[in-house]
Amino acid sequence: MTSDSPAKNPAKTFHVKSFGCQMNVYDGERMAEMLGMQGYLPAADGADADLVVLNTCHIREKAAEKVYSDIGRLKREDGSTPTIAVAGCVAQAEGAEIARRAPSVDVVVGPQAYHRLPDLIARAERGEKAIDLDMPLESKFGALPKRADGQRPTAFLTVQEGCDKFCTYCVVPYTRGAEISRPFADLIAEARALIAGGVREITLLGQNVNAWDGEDDKGRAIGLDGLIRELAREDGLERIRYTTSHPNDMTDGLIAAHGEVDKLMPFLHLPVQAGSDRILAAMNRSHSVDSYLRVIERVRAARPDIAISGDFIVGFPGESETDFEATLDIVRATNYAMAYSFKYSRRPGTPAATMDEQIDEAVMNDRLQRLQALLNQQQQAFNEATVGRATRLLLERKGKHDGQLIGKSPWLQSVHVTAPGLAIGDMTDVRITSAGPNSLGAEPLMEAVA
Ligand code: 5AD
Ligand code: SF4
Repeated sequence: MTSDSPAKNPAKTFHVKSFGCQMNVYDGERMAEMLGMQGYLPAADGADADLVVLNTCHIREKAAEKVYSDIGRLKREDGSTPTIAVAGCVAQAEGAEIARRAPSVDVVVGPQAYHRLPDLIARAERGEKAIDLDMPLESKFGALPKRADGQRPTAFLTVQEGCDKFCTYCVVPYTRGAEISRPFADLIAEARALIAGGVREITLLGQNVNAWDGEDDKGRAIGLDGLIRELAREDGLERIRYTTSHPNDMTDGLIAAHGEVDKLMPFLHLPVQAGSDRILAAMNRSHSVDSYLRVIERVRAARPDIAISGDFIVGFPGESETDFEATLDIVRATNYAMAYSFKYSRRPGTPAATMDEQIDEAVMNDRLQRLQALLNQQQQAFNEATVGRATRLLLERKGKHDGQLIGKSPWLQSVHVTAPGLAIGDMTDVRITSAGPNSLGAEPLMEAVA
């Protein structure tokens, strides 16, 4: 700890605001824990904090531009600003340019260097612009403090970072760097700390989570399925999920785990992006429509009730109406429980940004609307199909009404239930009674669900 470390001034407050993917949410939590260890207190309101960390997302242009308006909004009536740190993928991609464009920014720190945040803040407090975009070979995880006891029953656990796939539209391989898997022993230790703190569901995270590999405690090479099987042996942990996966890394073992590991929830987020082989090739996805559908078929054979989720991009350069209709076809063939869909966003530095035949905004809008109409229909149908089913919820938060709690079904649906005597963190058996597009209603069940 440096002599002018903030621990000397325990009254200082911080606020971490995370944008984008769940990995950013995880990073944001780790930064908050680290600042807590340094003597900072969480600010009741971000507007009054002494230190604001904007943990940014660079995946689409809009997300990246938002950073600058957020920085502007941090200016107070008297013209002063808090200490501002820009972290995350915009920091990695734009670097010192951020501090030039927004002079009120004091610290710029990339996603692989945020374990050095306390030092960077100390440098900023001495009047320096502190910029750290290192992607050190030794992982930041070893330098972070142990996980704090959480107040929530669910937690994210980053097991893998970075991406070697280089899809031609995507900034992740540049902002998050090459694929690295965290060591097995570290993950088991972190999971145990989370479970001891009351966590009952862990979602394993990675840009390519199913590319995780490591060695178990007996030195045997294992993949994500091996890690899931080991975690499933931990008492107190009730549920395991993982996201996001690449179709080419859905191994036989991982598919089998869906049929064999009770704690592994029946939900798979498996982006396909587009339904035309020509566009998939231009995207450098290195899978085809057929190979994707075959994976889905095998996963469903292993776990018939599995909910499938996906990501889609419309308007990739060169996408014809016929290509787009092929995307609608793969949606019909797969039948999604939920999905995210985006207009293609041109990201400087990626191969697709300089491809010919960039698609008109109006065409993209029309395609996105047609795709989302179909996906919404499927989501509603999936939700309706669960009405009448007895199932188990993990209660995660309070609902709007008195005594109402909101939990997650095994299929990641948000379900409202009102029952006396229940508390956040409980697992409870219910029967689903109603379904809307985004949430469901349920009544408590007296008899236990098998
Ligand atoms: N434009 C639009 N969507 C993108 N995604 C990634 N890069 C882009 C881009 N340049 C989407 C993909 C990915 C999700 C996280 O974001 O669908 O799976
Ligand atoms: Fe981006 Fe493709 Fe890697 Fe996913 S697999 S993070 S879309 S490059």
